[in-house]
Amino acid sequence: MEKNLKVTINKAGEEDILPIVEAHLLSFSDYFLTSLGGYFLALYYRSFLSSDDHLILVARVENKVCGFVAGTIHERELFQNILVKLKENWCGFAVVLAIKFLINSNFRREIWERLAYMRRLKKTLSKSRSKIKAYNKMTATLYSIAVLDELRGKGISVSLMRKFEEEMRKKGVTICTLGVRDDNLRAIRFYRKMGWQEETRRGTTVFFIKSLI
Ligand SMILES: CC(C)(COP(=O)(O)OP(=O)(O)OC[C@H]1O[C@@H](n2cnc3c(N)ncnc32)[C@H](O)[C@@H]1OP(=O)(O)O)[C@@H](O)C(=O)NCCC(=O)NCCS
Repeated sequence: MEKNLKVTINKAGEEDILPIVEAHLLSFSDYFLTSLGGYFLALYYRSFLSSDDHLILVARVENKVCGFVAGTIHERELFQNILVKLKENWCGFAVVLAIKFLINSNFRREIWERLAYMRRLKKTLSKSRSKIKAYNKMTATLYSIAVLDELRGKGISVSLMRKFEEEMRKKGVTICTLGVRDDNLRAIRFYRKMGWQEETRRGTTVFFIKSLI
């Protein structure tokens, strides 16, 4: 950690959701979730606050959110929660999606790619889950980690990841998994540095796994 940089890592609260969305928009500009817009992202990250099975941590420097990490031990519940929230404002969201789908060919391509990715993710996770279940282990999935560009390379991501693993360990998690795009070389290097091991590759996604024992 750089000298004089006072970083605090805490569990996120409602007041952190908009800064997290801003950090997401800046860090994942060409990602599919980003194309769904700020409304969806706020709803998505807010869902991580809905139960103790999910975890979202924020890093602050001089009281400003400069990074976050989000994950869960209960994916199904997390996604059900997102769907319930979406249904509450389904019309508005569906109209925005339909317009984007009609006028933006990149968005249409991303939708197909994302559906293929979700199928691959489901297959890969259920494969490793059944292997893991055989050993009676509790798993968590890390969904996203990001630090604002100007503050990367200063150890903030390392502190975020350590705290994420520590909190998951407290919940009884023994195995963590994540998926990352194979062109995200910096993140891949970061995960390896943090002791994550490549488990498999499917399409353009590399899946990593880490034992917390
Ligand atoms: C992924 C992320 C959280 C890592 O945090 P970070 O502060 O950048 O991490 P580091 O600076 O320790 O970088 C990790 C490694 O990549 C190396 N690196 C730096 N720039 C790089 C680049 N352009 N290409 C490849 N490796 C690079 C670093 O040297 C470091 O390796 P080393 O410590 O062995 O020398 C951060 O880069 C980020 O927020 N990225 C955008 C969001 C994202 O892609 N998240 C991951 C997908 S969920």
